[in-house]
Amino acid sequence: MTTLQGERVTLRPWRASDLAPFAALNDDPAVIEHLSGRLTRDESDALAGRIGEHIAQRGFGLWALDVPQLGFAGFVGLSAPVPFELGLPGIAPHPHEIGWRLARAAWGQGYATEAATLALRHAFGPLRLAQVVSFTVPANRASQAVMQRIGLTLRGEFDHPRFAAGHRLRRHVLYAADAPVQAHTSFAGGGSSQMSRDKFQDEETTPWSGNRSTTRSATCSSRPCSARCRWWSCWWGWDFCT
Ligand SMILES: CC(C)(COP(=O)(O)OP(=O)(O)OC[C@H]1O[C@@H](n2cnc3c(N)ncnc32)[C@H](O)[C@@H]1OP(=O)(O)O)[C@@H](O)C(=O)NCCC(=O)NCCS
Repeated sequence: MTTLQGERVTLRPWRASDLAPFAALNDDPAVIEHLSGRLTRDESDALAGRIGEHIAQRGFGLWALDVPQLGFAGFVGLSAPVPFELGLPGIAPHPHEIGWRLARAAWGQGYATEAATLALRHAFGPLRLAQVVSFTVPANRASQAVMQRIGLTLRGEFDHPRFAAGHRLRRHVLYAADAPVQAHTSFAGGGSSQMSRDKFQDEETTPWSGNRSTTRSATCSSRPCSARCRWWSCWWGWDFCT
């Protein structure tokens, strides 16, 4: 099972010792302010069980997060494909969602952003996902700030089908990131990487995006680079400059 290691954070499979601190954070009114409600110990354990099962089956999921001093601090990772159609232009019918839930003691130190960056790299790298989304209620500014910091952009709003009309959690904002095209062509054995390098052109080939084509020009700022390359390849840590 995959473990992702950052400078300060670790994303790892769950352990039995995570259950008590997980139940504590799921019972914290500040943590669940924008979620559907406090969880009992049994509900929290059942949620951890479902998350752990998903990770065991697929090798990835909402990993347990370890941070300095605190140890277990919640979860960050990729959930199963969204079970309902989001119905927004440019958004896949059932994309994977990236998400996070941290104990209050771990807020305000950049841990969620660092861990989410690891998870997103894993999504677009080894997992080869074409798109990752994240959504929350408009009032959850802290979560939207994480989405923005890891490079997701606002794509629209929708009504969450789990909540009835008029429910405080019904309206959601949706953010998304699409995999760098060069990553896909490269992983797939790639015929168009030369075109991408030379012309700096994104050609979205995913079925839901139509024939959108954009042009970027940038230089790689992360390290010396003999050829200009698309900034986001560098930003994600991929080595596409030659
Ligand atoms: C959403 C949530 C994970 C965001 O936590 P967070 O602490 O704000 O986010 P990060 O861990 O990325 O930390 C960023 C903050 O740490 C600060 N920071 C301090 N030291 C830092 C460092 N070394 N590196 C980076 N950032 C640092 C940043 O400036 C930023 O502070 P700011 O928000 O005042 O600008 C957290 O609020 C949470 O778990 N909420 C409850 C559950 C929830 O709502 N989940 C989302 C459901 S959709």
